[in-house]
Amino acid sequence: MTHAERQAALEAVATEVRSCTRCRLHETRTLAVPGEGSPDTEVVFIGEGPGFNEDRQGRPFVGRAGDLLTKFLATLHWKRDEVFITNIVKCRPPDNRDPEPDEVAACAPYLRRQLEVLDPALIVTLGRHSLGRFMPGERISQVHGTVRPVDPETGASAALALALYHPAAALRSPDVERQSYEDVASIPTALADARARRGVRTGAANGAATATSAYAAGVPSAGTSSPGALAPDATLL
Ligand code: URA
Ligand code: SF4
Repeated sequence: MTHAERQAALEAVATEVRSCTRCRLHETRTLAVPGEGSPDTEVVFIGEGPGFNEDRQGRPFVGRAGDLLTKFLATLHWKRDEVFITNIVKCRPPDNRDPEPDEVAACAPYLRRQLEVLDPALIVTLGRHSLGRFMPGERISQVHGTVRPVDPETGASAALALALYHPAAALRSPDVERQSYEDVASIPTALADARARRGVRTGAANGAATATSAYAAGVPSAGTSSPGALAPDATLL
């Protein structure tokens, strides 16, 4: 897919989300929050669901948890618009309650379609609900800071997931905050691992030495890793 095709496909999902009535959360939302970021990124951050501020603005992670997420990105010299940021459910659960299983299930096709379009190398899960989709059965206290291959059923055909605590949990606990900065520091290594894995996989499938060139071209220089490094119209598979 080209840059323009990805952008149009993401906008089509967002348009559907904004008028969606598939679950009861539409009754109490102000604005749905489809997600935002670069159509060309290799890295997608996935939270739980919109809170008060997100519901008012229609944008993800714009409250205090969002400020902390933005700070996490800044430690990597990344900006919000270089990655893609979205949630498991796109509408705010009343009083910030946990989303119900039927609401999570109703909303799942939107995230799946976003991941099919973005085809990220790395998915960073934020908190338990996002972890549940990408590392089912795992406990955040056990797996934070570690990666697992992602089930292609999620829409991400060849991604690694890296588990992080939710930034809201870091706001409540200095220990979790300290741990979160350590986990964030492992993102570039996780991205490099994810790229290498995709290169190997694609090369094996094609039996061609040139198969990894799109990824090689996406690495700006040894030791640095930008999340939007691929050429906008790079064809990956
Ligand atoms: N918490 C989330 O999980 N998502 C947001 O968008 C904001 C806060
Ligand atoms: Fe639709 Fe998802 Fe919002 Fe439910 S949470 S109304 S499924 S967009």
